[in-house]
Parts: sequence; structure tokens; C-alpha cells
Amino acid sequence: MDDYVRLTYQGREFRLPLVAGSEGETAIDISRLRQETGLITLDPGFANTGSCRSAITFVDGERGILRYRGIPVEQLAERSTFKETAFLLINGALPTQKELTRFSVLLNDHSLVHEDMKIFYQSFPRSSHPMGILSAMVNALRSFYPELQNLEEEINITVTRLLSKVRTMAAMSYKISRGHTVVYPRSDLTYCANFLNMMFDSPVKPYELDPDVVKALNVFLILHADHEQNCSTAAVRVVGSARVNLYAAISAGIAALWGPLHGGANQAVIEMLTEMSRHGNLDAMVARAKDKNDSYRLMGFGHRVYKTYDPRARIMKQMAHVLLEKLKLSDPLLDVARELEAIALKDDYFIEHHLYPNVDFYSGIVLRAIGIPTNMFTVLFAIGRLPGWIAQWKESMDDPAWKLCRPRQVYSGPGERDYVPIEER
Ligand SMILES: CC(C)(COP(=O)(O)OP(=O)(O)OC[C@H]1O[C@@H](n2cnc3c(N)ncnc32)[C@H](O)[C@@H]1OP(=O)(O)O)[C@@H](O)C(=O)NCCC(=O)NCCS
Repeated sequence: MDDYVRLTYQGREFRLPLVAGSEGETAIDISRLRQETGLITLDPGFANTGSCRSAITFVDGERGILRYRGIPVEQLAERSTFKETAFLLINGALPTQKELTRFSVLLNDHSLVHEDMKIFYQSFPRSSHPMGILSAMVNALRSFYPELQNLEEEINITVTRLLSKVRTMAAMSYKISRGHTVVYPRSDLTYCANFLNMMFDSPVKPYELDPDVVKALNVFLILHADHEQNCSTAAVRVVGSARVNLYAAISAGIAALWGPLHGGANQAVIEMLTEMSRHGNLDAMVARAKDKNDSYRLMGFGHRVYKTYDPRARIMKQMAHVLLEKLKLSDPLLDVARELEAIALKDDYFIEHHLYPNVDFYSGIVLRAIGIPTNMFTVLFAIGRLPGWIAQWKESMDDPAWKLCRPRQVYSGPGERDYVPIEER
């Protein structure tokens, strides 16, 4: 096989080297393109652009494959915990028992949030979206905790501090938004059990932990833990490339995740299914989604990378079904979701456009069954994605090919023209 491609431009031939990944995917290295040819590339939305080499997550959108550090997400969802998966993503290998215990101790040691931060929470208007609060609060962490140095131990502390505190802060924002007493983390509970307890325990009604619910939350978080260079991860890497502190970079990721085309889709799906279940207008909504003159889209369908069924959606769908059965709950939205999926998967438009349910399509139903309110859905996604953001940030910091992210553009504005004084305009 050739190890370069030829580019002919203005009568000259240039050789652009090919780069192969460990799963056989091939890229054209254009890092010297401008220097050698004066040309740049134009790729809106970066759909054809690799921004880095990464050894963290492998996604094959055509075959529906997702692996963290080589391990299929299906195996992790079945056999691992979120804490262990977070360790895997950040450190590159599954932990030994000793490493896992040390990781748990660090997570417990750093789970409390500075009491002064509670005052911040109280200053947000009651109607604030928890994603806006979380993004601001994570950025504020830098003012409360020192900048990390490059020592391995200090990086570990900052990383576990973030993993642990974001979970506490998320539960705290929920409690404060409801005007309830904040529940503090407990060192005798596991990562997910602790979160559920902080969310739902109350002085008048102690929360009873259900192992099926704890397992479901673990699986939900594992399925969201990383997804290579998606919008929010790219935001973390771009912001991090300016060498800001980790908290600021993660805060940028949270802001990006908030959008309805990204993490905010899980909330948008439930709103869409609720509307459909109220009005029974599935066919009309599907018709709108197909209409070129209507910007309406079916939320939870389609993906930039997956052109087949999202493997996470398959696990999530199964889990929604199992969890509702175990908890003896019925959710009319699950029936609507199944019906909508069946309509869409038979429809030529969806088939031709390769539009299948994505991870967000069934995740809201799982979260509802756990008792998570709709406006906290994207916050749960953020807790899940945190180890991925951290791992990607860490990898970019250690990358010998690291560069400040600074794309170029093709300018399409006016040519040079003179300033006109205001009285002459
Ligand atoms: C995720 C998403 C942004 C990916 O988009 P993308 O890769 O940029 O693809 P495009 O927006 O270019 O869409 C490609 C085509 O499919 C159509 N399409 C994509 N998602 C669609 C959806 N959910 N409903 C209806 N049509 C959709 C577009 O209209 C476009 O059609 P056209 O080529 O005839 O103009 C997009 O599928 C979407 O908006 N999905 C809904 C939101 C969602 O669930 N987000 C969570 C992602 S995990």
C-alpha cells in the first residue's frame, strides 16, 4: 500500500504522508500542507478532520463498535463499575485491587465541597438550569483549590477531586433548587450509591438504596464515560490547549454538552416523547422531521459517527426494559419510544439517511425510572463524561505533538475599504 497521497496543484506534485491507526483507519497528514503549498483545508464541523492521535476510545460508526482502552463497552456495562471504568479511561488499564482501593480512598477524601461554595448556589435564580450552574461551579473550583503542579500525585488528587466533587455538587444543586437540606457524602457508600443517597435522602424520609437502581446508574454512567472527539471533548481539548487549568477546561466541556444537539438531547427526547404521548401524533411528528422546509428533528435519532444502531442505545433500551420490570413500574413514554423507533426504522427517509436511535433515545427513560428529574438529565451525562474529558485532557497535555488549537478560515468578507466618518454614512 502507498504511504502517501499525491496532490497536484498549479502544475506541481506534492506528497502527503498517510498515517495509520491501530485499528487500520487511515488519515492524510496535512500538517505541512500550508507550508509546502500555501493551501489550507476547509471542513465545516470537522466531519473529515482528525485533530489528534488518541489511545483512549475506539468508535467504529459503520460497525457499531465502542471500546474504552480496547475493552468493548458491552463488557464494561455488564461487569464493571463506573469507578473502575473511570480509572481505566484515565490511567489506561484496569486497576489492581490495591489501585482501586487507593482510588476509592482518594474519591472519599475529596468528596466534600467547600462550605463557602453553598453561598454561590443560593445566589443563582431558582429557575437556573443545573448545567449552567454546574459549569460555573466547576470553573469556580479553581478559586477554592490550588492549581495542580505537574507531579503525578498532585494530578491524581486534582482528578479525583473533580470526579468526586462534581458528583457532590450535582446532588447539591438539586437539593438547593428544591429548597431542601443538603445531604453530605458518606464514605461507606460506593460512588453511585453515594450520589443517589445525596440526591434522594431526606430527614423525613430516609432513602433506601436498591441494588438494581445502583447498577442501572453505573451502567448509564459507563455508557457515557467517553466517546472520542465529540463536541464537548473537543471543547475540553481546545480550551485546554491554551494551557488553562483543568477546571476551566472541564467547565467548557460542560457548557458544550448542554446543547440539545449534544448532551442536552436526553432532556429534549423526554420532552418530545411526552408531547407525543399527550397528543398521539407520532406520524405527524415523523413527517415534520422529514420535511426539508421544517427544522424540526426527531430527538435521539442520528449521530455524526454512528451510521448504524448506536451500541449504547441497544444496552440502554434493554436496561430500560429490565429496570422498569424489576421496579414494577410502567412508563408510557417507553411504549411511545418503542412505537416511534418501529415507525422510523421502517421509513425510507430514516433508512436512507442512516438515522438510528442514539444513546439519548432511551437514556431518559432509565433516568426517570431512577427518579432523576428531567432538568438533571444532562447533568448526569456530564458526571458520566467526566472521566473521558479528564483522560483526553491528560493525554493532550502529555502529547509530544501538542499544539495550541487555532484553526484557520477562508475569509469571505469585504475587501479593503476606507473608514467612513459617521456624518458621511
Ligand atoms: C446528532 C446530529 C447533530 C448529527 O448530525 P450531522 O452528522 O451533522 O448530520 P446532519 O445534521 O448533516 O444530518 C444529515 C441528514 O440527516 C438528517 N437528520 C439528521 N438527524 C436527523 C433527525 N434527528 N431527524 C430528522 N432528520 C435528521 C438531516 O436533516 C440531514 O438531511 P439532508 O442530508 O437531507 O439535509 C443530528 O443527527 C441530530 O440533530 N440529531 C438529533 C439530536 C440528537 O439526538 N443529538 C444527540 C446525539 S448523541
